[in-house]
Parts: sequence; structure tokens; C-alpha cells
Amino acid sequence: MQHPVEIAPARGKLGVLLVGLGAVSTTFVAGTLLIRKGLASPIGSLTQMGTIRLGKRNEGRTPLIKDFLPLASLDDLVFGAWDIFEENGYEAAMTAGVLDASMLEQVRPELEAIRPWPAVFDQRYVKRLMGTNVKTGANKREIAEQVRADICAFKDAHHLDRLVMVWCGSTEIFMTPMAAHQSIAAFEQAMESNADEIASSMVYAYAALKEGIPYANAAPNLSADIPALDQLALDNGSPVVGKDLKTGQTLIKTIVAPGLKARLIGVSGWFSTNILGNRDGEVLDDPESFKTKEESKKSVLDYILQPDLYPTLYKDLCHVVRINYYPPRGDNKEGWDNIDLVGWLGYKMQLKINFLCRDSILAAPIVLDLVLFLDLAKRAGMSGIQEWLSFYFKSPVHAPGLYPEHDLFIQLMKLKNTLRYMRGEELITHLGLEYYG
Ligand SMILES: NC(=O)c1ccc[n+]([C@@H]2O[C@H](COP(=O)([O-])OP(=O)(O)OC[C@H]3O[C@@H](n4cnc5c(N)ncnc54)[C@H](O)[C@@H]3O)[C@@H](O)[C@H]2O)c1
Repeated sequence: MQHPVEIAPARGKLGVLLVGLGAVSTTFVAGTLLIRKGLASPIGSLTQMGTIRLGKRNEGRTPLIKDFLPLASLDDLVFGAWDIFEENGYEAAMTAGVLDASMLEQVRPELEAIRPWPAVFDQRYVKRLMGTNVKTGANKREIAEQVRADICAFKDAHHLDRLVMVWCGSTEIFMTPMAAHQSIAAFEQAMESNADEIASSMVYAYAALKEGIPYANAAPNLSADIPALDQLALDNGSPVVGKDLKTGQTLIKTIVAPGLKARLIGVSGWFSTNILGNRDGEVLDDPESFKTKEESKKSVLDYILQPDLYPTLYKDLCHVVRINYYPPRGDNKEGWDNIDLVGWLGYKMQLKINFLCRDSILAAPIVLDLVLFLDLAKRAGMSGIQEWLSFYFKSPVHAPGLYPEHDLFIQLMKLKNTLRYMRGEELITHLGLEYYG
């Protein structure tokens, strides 16, 4: 058995800094408050309901993950947020329309206490939104200092011990890493000259990383996934993860595709379409924001099916993804997948999936897990990209030169093995020859 990693205890309060107080954020906060009052169950959360097998299969050691590791308690979470709209947490949750009014009523005072700080916002990056609760300043570096001041004031006001930041803001326009993103010096220079290369989400990420705070990106925009911010995260001991929570259609895709590949069933086409009527859907109706989302959603199949290794099965795969803004459905997304399959001797088959999901109901437990695992990683001295949390993302950030792992089952094994490693437990390989020797 190897030595356990030293993990500082989860003492005191943990502040959760949410950028964007929309459907995902309010569903996460209201849900956490309801759960901690014993009024609801944390369904979908690995940290709250998941177990982990330790040792051999005949040892009977399968604790809850939250008993195996020193995670922060839900009672110790304190929430703060930025948004371009002034609505408090209760009003924002009512606007999002995900949870029933009767449920929200039970945590109304706690939600009303969340009054969003003015946001870092520029319509250049999210075309379909306009709000008035926005910071102004001489340049982006000065605005980042204002975000740091918000963080410090929140920390003092609530006597917080530690913090985690999660970008739950709208999807920004498609960007790729540019010269201004290559080093911390270039990035800071670009902030001072108000360069377009510095999107609003990068300003928040910079502020968090400067404070040594872990940062997660729930959306597909570039944000902290650039060399300058990777370096800052390493320098300041901040764990970082992203991008784009794996919920809905992509979750199902990364469950089904590894199964088809495992049985060497060919796929000649995968057509995915969605209808979605919340504010996220409205933002994604803009082609530049949609492009960011499309890239994120489309990448998964190539990596899972590996057409280079299996040209006969996947070389000609036609993968199409559509999102249609359709207001009547609100947050209740409906997704259809048509998968054209090829079997033995080239015979064609089809698989149809119709998923009537609730986007934010799938996303909220992921946000909770990320907050708790990032705080754990920080206390365990882990900084920079946390690939073991790929399990939660459509476009997992990863080290240069590696391809991202998209297969949900490999991702889960990696996550649990990382937890075993942290505690000095034997890693599980599933070899199992010892049971038959
Ligand atoms: N719901 C899901 O299952 C899911 C899955 C993957 C990714 N996401 C992504 O998570 C993000 C949030 O989703 P949502 O459904 O809550 O959307 P939403 O539109 O309900 O909420 C986003 C909030 O962010 C605010 N915002 C936008 N730019 C901001 C800025 N610069 N600073 C502060 N606030 C800002 C908006 O005003 C809005 O209130 C979106 O980018 C979405 O694509 C959601």
C-alpha cells in the first residue's frame, strides 16, 4: 500500500462563488439548501450518494465516498454570486422556472439573501444578453481587481475559511487560444490594454487564480483553458477543471458510444437534435455562442470511437448536432438521437433515443460534486488541471499532447482510483486473477 496524500481537514466555512445566477446556479443552491434541511435527496451526486470499493472483492469494504474522504459538509457551504441582472437568488430561481414555487418557498430567505454583485460583462462575448448590473473600470485588469475585492469582502463578511469559484454564466462566443493567452505577462498586458482576446470569463478566472482559489468552468467557452491561466493555477496552487458540464444528450452519447465500440458495432451516422427554451437556449440561438457549444458537443465521438484505429467501423461517421431554441419547453429539454449502425457483414441497423430531460436537474449535482472535490484537491495540495474530474465534462481540459478521455466508464474509474490514491488504498485494475489461483 502506498502512503496516503496529506489532506488538510475541512475546517470552517467554504464559500462558493458562482459566476452567473441562472438556472444551473439557482437549482444547485436551492437544492443544496433543501438537502441540508433534510427536505430532499441529493440524487445524482457522487459525493453525497456514491460508494467506493476498497481492496479485494471479498473484503466487503465499500464506504460512502463522503465517509472515505474529508469532504466539506453541506452545512458549511456559503453562497455568493455575480450576475448582470439584479434579481436575488429567489427571484432568479423563479425566473429560471426549474424548481416548483412550493419547493423554493421552503428556502426563500436563504435564496433572497444572495444578491448578485455587479458582473464583469461585455456584450461582445454574449450577444443575446443585456443587463445593467455591470462593473465599469479603466481596463480589464482593474476590473479583475474589483472581482478580487468582492471575493475578499465576501470572505470577511462570512468568516470563510476557503473558497471555490464556478463559472455558471452564459456560453461566450467561440475563441481559440491566441498570443495574448500564451503567458501570464502577455495576458496581463492584454488586460491592461483592454484587448478583445480577454473574455469576461477569463477576468473572473484570473481573479480566482490570483487568490489561489480553485476554478471550474461549467460552460464550453475557453475561459481558463489557456497556457497563461494554467501557469497561474500552478503558481498559486489552484486546481482547475472544465469545460461544459456533461448532462443531457452528451451524457447519453458517452454512455452509449463506448458500448457500441466495445462490441465493434459500426456507426455510419449520428444525428442529434434538441429543443430547449430557457435563457441558455436563447443565448445558444446566437451562431457565435452556438459554435462554442457545437465544438464541445461534437468532439466526444471522435475520441471515443477512434476512427483512426477502426477505419472500417467509424471512418465515414457523419455526426450532426443541432440545438433549437423553443421557448414553450423552458428548461425541460427534449433531445432526439438517430444512430445509423452497421453490423455483421455490413447489415444496417438503427437506434433511436428520445431523452426528455431537465437540464439543470442533471447539472446541479455536478456543480455540488465539483465544489466539494475541488476544495478537497486544494487541501490535498493538487494544483493545475485536474484530469480526474473529466467525468463531469463534455470537453475535459487536459495536458498538452494528450487526447481527452471521454468514455464515462474510464472517467469514473480514473476518478475513483484518484480517490483511492489520495487515501493510500490499492488502485483497482479489475484483473482479478488472484480469485482463481
Ligand atoms: N444546464 C445544463 O445542463 C448545462 C450543461 C452544460 C453546460 N451548461 C452551461 O452552463 C451555463 C449556465 O447555464 P444556465 O442554464 O444556468 O443558463 P442561464 O442563462 O439560466 O444562466 C446564466 C446566467 O449567467 C449570467 N451571465 C452571463 N454572463 C455573465 C457574466 N459575464 N458575469 C456574470 N453573470 C453572467 C446570465 O445573466 C444568466 O443569469 C451555460 O453556459 C450553459 O451552456 C449548462
